Amino acid sequence: MIIKNNTEHFLSSIKCNYKLNEPLSKHTTLCIGGNADYFVEVETEQQLTSVLKFINENKIKFFIIGGGSNLLFSDEGFKGIIIKLSGCFCKYEISQNNVVCGAAISLSYLAHQTAQQSLSGLEYLSSIPGTVGGAVYGNAGIKNYSISSVIDKIEVIDYFGQKRVLTKNDIKFEYRKSNLQDNIITKIFFILKNADKNDILKTISQETERRKNTQPIGTKNAGCIFKNPKDDSAGRLIDSLNLKNYSIGGIKISEVHANFFINQSNGCAKDMINLINFVTNKVDEQYNIKLETEIKIIK
Ligand code: EPU
Repeated sequence: MIIKNNTEHFLSSIKCNYKLNEPLSKHTTLCIGGNADYFVEVETEQQLTSVLKFINENKIKFFIIGGGSNLLFSDEGFKGIIIKLSGCFCKYEISQNNVVCGAAISLSYLAHQTAQQSLSGLEYLSSIPGTVGGAVYGNAGIKNYSISSVIDKIEVIDYFGQKRVLTKNDIKFEYRKSNLQDNIITKIFFILKNADKNDILKTISQETERRKNTQPIGTKNAGCIFKNPKDDSAGRLIDSLNLKNYSIGGIKISEVHANFFINQSNGCAKDMINLINFVTNKVDEQYNIKLETEIKIIK
């Protein structure tokens, strides 16, 4: 007979799909991370609020995962509950210039769908990996353009299960940053502009081509490791120190773009942290610039 503990009983009672001791390396684009005690797929708002209530009552550590494209989990894994939004959080609706979507939908997929409806605004972001929720949380973007430009409002559920609507003016968006850290983004409302479909599709293919030529597509990476310092590029600074191809353990600095660190199959979080610290110190010694990580490091 299988003996279930309290948490398992609760998750079964609200009909959540969950896995025990789930390797987080399966859920991050770096393919790094030890096991999570619980990996829970939440399909409805009701399930989400129930799980949050349970987490609060039992003082359990938790983390919301999106596409796992900007995350570094430790090799020891996560002692608590990882929540992944799915089901109704993967739906979207387009009506005239308004796009409403769940936070778990892929940003790239949504950009392609809106392009097909001759709606402009997301095409510049079409090759950014990850979910729309993750992109809003980190105000993802390319040079001089970020997702906050096209947001009208969002729905969030705070860590106590309280649902709220935040208009763009309620949110503080900065370069690769928002003040949404105590909220779970559940729904996003965009207002896009009408434009010529062929022009939008052309921008998408140019953006894809540009990425292919300047970034290590198809490798195990987490996008840019560091934020750009004001008016400069972290990649350019690291490259100027001749650090492309430099490696620690199984993690290598990309030869294509020096702000991308690649897991060469056998890399671990410890190697990654050592390489981040090494590069941070080198850049500081040479330029007196303190690089800040763009990826989120989860302990
Ligand atoms: N450069 C080098 N060597 C390198 C990398 C870049 O000399 O190894 C030079 C380039 O030649 C260029 C300048 O640095 O003159 C800027 O490079 P790039 O155009 O690649 O842009 P970036 O500042 O390195 C930012 C975003 C990217 C985004 C690109 C394109 C950040 C931290 N990075 O990179 O976003 O794709 O612009 O818009 O803001 C991400 O956030 O994960 C990301 C990949």
